[in-house]
Amino acid sequence: MATFGPDCLRSQKILITGGLGGIGEVIVERLLGHSARVLVSDILPEAEASKLMHQKGWSQDRCCYCQADVRKSLDAQRLVETALTSFGGLDVALCHAGIVCSKPILSVQEDEWAAILDVNLKGAFLVAQAAAGAMIRDGRRGNIIFTSSWVQDVPWPEITPYSVSKSGMKMLMRGMARELASYNIRVNAVAPGIVAVGMAKRQWDTEPGYRRRAERAIPLGYMQPPESVADACVFLCSDASSYMTGATLLVDGGCSLYPMD
Ligand SMILES: NC(=O)c1ccc[n+]([C@@H]2O[C@H](COP(=O)([O-])OP(=O)(O)OC[C@H]3O[C@@H](n4cnc5c(N)ncnc54)[C@H](O)[C@@H]3O)[C@@H](O)[C@H]2O)c1
Repeated sequence: MATFGPDCLRSQKILITGGLGGIGEVIVERLLGHSARVLVSDILPEAEASKLMHQKGWSQDRCCYCQADVRKSLDAQRLVETALTSFGGLDVALCHAGIVCSKPILSVQEDEWAAILDVNLKGAFLVAQAAAGAMIRDGRRGNIIFTSSWVQDVPWPEITPYSVSKSGMKMLMRGMARELASYNIRVNAVAPGIVAVGMAKRQWDTEPGYRRRAERAIPLGYMQPPESVADACVFLCSDASSYMTGATLLVDGGCSLYPMD
């Protein structure tokens, strides 16, 4: 019988991209708190990342770091190889790194469009593909999780390239779920709402128009605690979700229930 207890991730070897960002660091804390072994990845240089991880008190026994730029296939492959050599296997790849660019669609420049799609969609694909290849070679069952967003299905003003990248991610997730099920690899996504750390909080703090819209857009009435995203990731990493594949776990405080703009 599947369980979802405090030690439910004890046997899990997990890699996460964007692991030092606002939401990422809370996810890492939660994964470690449930006894997983975690390979944290981000674009930050090794020395800077090690200092941050040391300050957070993340145990070096259960946690290590690999610098990788998700836009580069060689980095994605090196990241997966690092998980295999560090932990002797890889159970879960959490494709979490992402960026946003906030501007009206008529002002979006070609390089801005390309950057968003490169990190959010191509980067997620490269890491997921490298992870799935390793899982299949190892003959293990596998688990791939994407961090999408409620805006994968809802057009929210001034972040259209970002929404496009997350919509693309939804189909990437569903396509991979369908193709990889026969290898015993499940593929799902978590879709957060307007989270009180990271990119949404930066927009909340610096863009009055965004804040006015966001204040009216959350039916539950307050910004999303990052722990709620982390709990959804713990669930998707655990055997409690073992019959889920091809699904988006929407954890958005109701943002996607109705358009509020
Ligand atoms: N904050 C929100 O409200 C919210 C809502 C829904 C979904 N999300 C998603 O959650 C994820 C994390 O967002 P966040 O709000 O914590 O933002 P954040 O900016 O705090 O974290 C993003 C992380 O991704 C890393 N990153 C950026 N480019 C990279 C690259 N090329 N290679 C590797 N790492 C790279 C950054 O260094 C950073 O640590 C993103 O995928 C985002 O789209 C966020």
